[in-house]
Amino acid sequence: MNKVIYTLLLALSFSFASDVELLEEARKYFYPLPELFPSDKNPLTPEKIRLGKMLFYEKRISIDGTTSCAKCHPLSLYGTDGLEKSRGNFSKENPRNAPTVLNAAGQISQHWRGDRKDVEDQAKRSVLGKGSFGAPSYQWVENVLKSIKGYRELFKKAFPDDKDPINIDNFAKAIGAWERTLSTPSRFDDFLKGHVDALSEKEKRGLKKFISYGCVACHSGALLGGTMYQKFGIYEPYWKYTKSKKIDEGRFNVTKKEEDRYVFKVPPLRNVALTPPYFHDGSVRDLKRAIWIMGKVQLGKELSEEDISDIYSFLTSLNGRLSEDIITVPLLPVR
Ligand code: HEC
Ligand code: HEC
Repeated sequence: MNKVIYTLLLALSFSFASDVELLEEARKYFYPLPELFPSDKNPLTPEKIRLGKMLFYEKRISIDGTTSCAKCHPLSLYGTDGLEKSRGNFSKENPRNAPTVLNAAGQISQHWRGDRKDVEDQAKRSVLGKGSFGAPSYQWVENVLKSIKGYRELFKKAFPDDKDPINIDNFAKAIGAWERTLSTPSRFDDFLKGHVDALSEKEKRGLKKFISYGCVACHSGALLGGTMYQKFGIYEPYWKYTKSKKIDEGRFNVTKKEEDRYVFKVPPLRNVALTPPYFHDGSVRDLKRAIWIMGKVQLGKELSEEDISDIYSFLTSLNGRLSEDIITVPLLPVR
């Protein structure tokens, strides 16, 4: 009997030691999500955040009157639309898949190719996007907003120092401010803060493999991505395994530098299990297949079914908790 208890204790203390080791190892690469993603250029105030949330749902600034940020980034689907490629005004197809807006503000840049500086730059330029809002000019958007009386007070409160607060830059700042609050902490953060029981044994095995196989070389930081640009298809061309209909040359088309051919921003993996389909062209719907492809083309490794299943489980520990503010839809000024 004593022997059984002794063995049990030994086994327990062993797994504890390895949990602590795993935690220490994980803390070298990852850190918990911050509650907010602040910016010196766009200080956060409750009034600005509240207005930004409304503008995120505003359709009247689109050329067809049906397109808002929320059309392609519905929070009910964790900030993405579930489509391979988004559809904007008059159902026009976008060239790439819509990444989630959740935690997006915490990245080095925005868009798959990093051609938007930050969430404010992204929001501003999005209104002129031919495939998104399709607005003819910034002036046109400003006029629409000015024609809705309820916005006058809201912009004034959000930008009290501005004489003429309804303008496109303030529109972008307000939306950006709201996006900077969209942090979705998960059980993985509980783990990183020291609660080693927050992850199941299988999830911990997945985390170990995620580290030891080298996924962390690219997917690290608080978001497990969003910190660097990398070629998609280091060992083999990505389109050998995806169902890509068209080959996207990535940042090459932005910078015109040869070394940027097929280079994309490493996407964050927060909420990844809830935001299919995957990759810049939405060409893969099954997360397990996406993990296998990553092993193949980024690491030159054939991951076994068990590896994939463990890593998949680890990735589900990144499914975030959505605050009440994130899941409620605001009332907009009617006129
Ligand atoms: C027609 C659909 C559509 C609309 C409307 C739209 N987006 Fe997007 N959004 C996309 C697509 C597609 C991308 C990826 C573009 C790319 O990388 O080329 C994207 C990218 C983004 C990103 C970058 C995320 C990342 O991880 O890089 C943010 C942030 C974002 N959108 C926020 C917004 C906001 C705010 C609005 C409203 C002002 C908006 N979007 C309107 C489809 C849309
Ligand atoms: C050399 C850098 C690198 C390594 C190593 C790497 N990735 Fe990636 N990962 C990327 C890039 C770049 C993309 C974006 C590809 C694209 O253009 O769609 C990506 C995309 C993904 C996606 C799709 C995310 C989405 O929202 O569409 C998943 C899932 C993923 N990686 C998981 C992994 C896993 C698991 C590993 C380890 C087996 C791994 N990655 C290793 C760079 C890397």
